[in-house]
This record gives sequence, C-alpha cells and structure tokens, in this order.
Amino acid sequence: MLRKSALWIAALQLVALAAYAHVDLIAPCARYSSAPGCPPPPRGQSIDYNTNAPISSNGINIQPLCKHSVPYAKRTVYKAGESISTGYGIGSSHGGGHCQWALSYDREKTWVVIQTEIRTCLQGTVAGQNVKIPVTIPTDAPSGEVTFMWAWINAVGVREFYSNCADIQVDGRDGGSISGVELLLSNYNTTYDLIPEFPNPTDPDGHELFDARKPITISVKGSGSSITSAPDPSTSSKPNKNAAGRGWHRLQSTLFFISTFFVFIPLYM
Ligand SMILES: *[C@@H]1O[C@H](CO)[C@@H](O)[C@H](O)[C@H]1NC(C)=O
Repeated sequence: MLRKSALWIAALQLVALAAYAHVDLIAPCARYSSAPGCPPPPRGQSIDYNTNAPISSNGINIQPLCKHSVPYAKRTVYKAGESISTGYGIGSSHGGGHCQWALSYDREKTWVVIQTEIRTCLQGTVAGQNVKIPVTIPTDAPSGEVTFMWAWINAVGVREFYSNCADIQVDGRDGGSISGVELLLSNYNTTYDLIPEFPNPTDPDGHELFDARKPITISVKGSGSSITSAPDPSTSSKPNKNAAGRGWHRLQSTLFFISTFFVFIPLYM
C-alpha cells in the first residue's frame, strides 16, 4: 500500500512538473522541436514534444544542456552583426526571470554568452502569446557551425533551469575570436548555486552571480577547415558554489518534498 502510494506520488509529481512546463525556443527551431515549420529531427532521433520542459528542477538535473546532442542536418544561416528575432512558445512564464543567450563553436563544450536579460526576461508573457526577443550576433563573430543556446532561470515556482539549442551557421569573419562571458548555470545540480524565487522587485535574485561571470574569449580557426575552439586558459573558471546556495538547495528540496504530501495525501483519504 505504502509502495503504491509512493508510486502515485512520483507519478503525480511528474504530472505536476509537466503541467508547470513552460517555455521553449521556437525560432530559431530548438533541436527536434514540434513547433510548426521546424524541420524533422535528424536520422535516429525523434520529435521532442517536451522542449518546453526545464532541464533541472530544484537543483536536480533531469537532462543535459541543450537536451539533445545531435545537431540538425541543416542550419539556419545568420550574418555576423545580424539581429535574430528569437521566438518563444509560452506555456507558463513563471514571473519571467533571467535569460542568457550563448554560442558554442565546439559542439557545446565551450559557451560564450552574447546577451543577458536579468529578471525581466519573459515577464508578463501569457500562454500562447507570440513573444519575440532580438538577439544580435556580434559583428566580429567568426564564420562557422554554431550552437545557439537560450537559457532561462524562472523567477517564480519550482527552481528550474531551461536550455534549448538551435543549430545555426554564422556567416562572418574567416577565423578569429569571439568574446563574452561564461554561461551561468544555476538550479542545475549540487555543483551550482540555487537561486531562490524572486517574485518581488526587492527579493534577492542572484544577479550578483551574473555580474561575477568570468570573461571568456574563444578562438576559431579559419579558412573553412574544421572548426576548433578553446577557451582562453587565463579566463577559464570553476563553477560557482557557496554555502548559502547549498543551504537553499536543501531547504527548497525539503519544502518541495513536504508540500507534495500536503497536496496529494488528501487524494488517498
Ligand atoms: C553538474 O553538472 C556539471 C555540468 O554538466 C557536471 O560537470 C558535474 O559533474 C555535475 N555535478 C554533479 C554533482 O552531478
């Protein structure tokens, strides 16, 4: 009986998580997106009907960054300096939050963040709304096959981290480097800080963690040959972690667990 209840709780938790889901990148198409106009997934992969689900919940990692690692066969081409009109499928916008947009020239090993929106990202958007956010590819971005990531930390609700990736081709300089800051991971797993909910303007929102992101410069080899890149060793850094973050993580996980009982126990009575 107890076992059955535990299974029900787990199942209902999954349903609850799915129901809270949420937002995804639909332009350019996130990998294997079911959004209208998106290409079929690459061979051997299937359509992902849950591109709008977070990749972690309460500091518990569910999926890797990007969710999927095999790129689309065909890439959307953008010129360096071009502004991409990025589009989002809104299910629930969780009071908005922090967005980062990042590029990887080495198949998701190294990320350089090219744009950040603290706190107000997707704030006030409603289900079904056609939301567009312009993101500019830096004018000095080298040419190459690039993974474009949208990452989001929600303001309200279960502490989550979202990550969708699109496969693009940048038409820019022949080789060179691109600079920005490192990607901030949070709410992802116990290696990283947990940013508590920040529904009110005065609530701590972890913005200082964003301010502290280290600069990063990525070098890209030119002349159309195989693209390789590496972070500048002088700027690479270790993940952020502090005692406060860990404390929050435990507290939030515990509260979530306890709240599950209060919500679901009446169902068995
Ligand atoms: C957390 O995620 C990072 C990045 O994927 C990984 O390197 C690290 O090993 C993970 N840590 C734990 C405790 O799972």
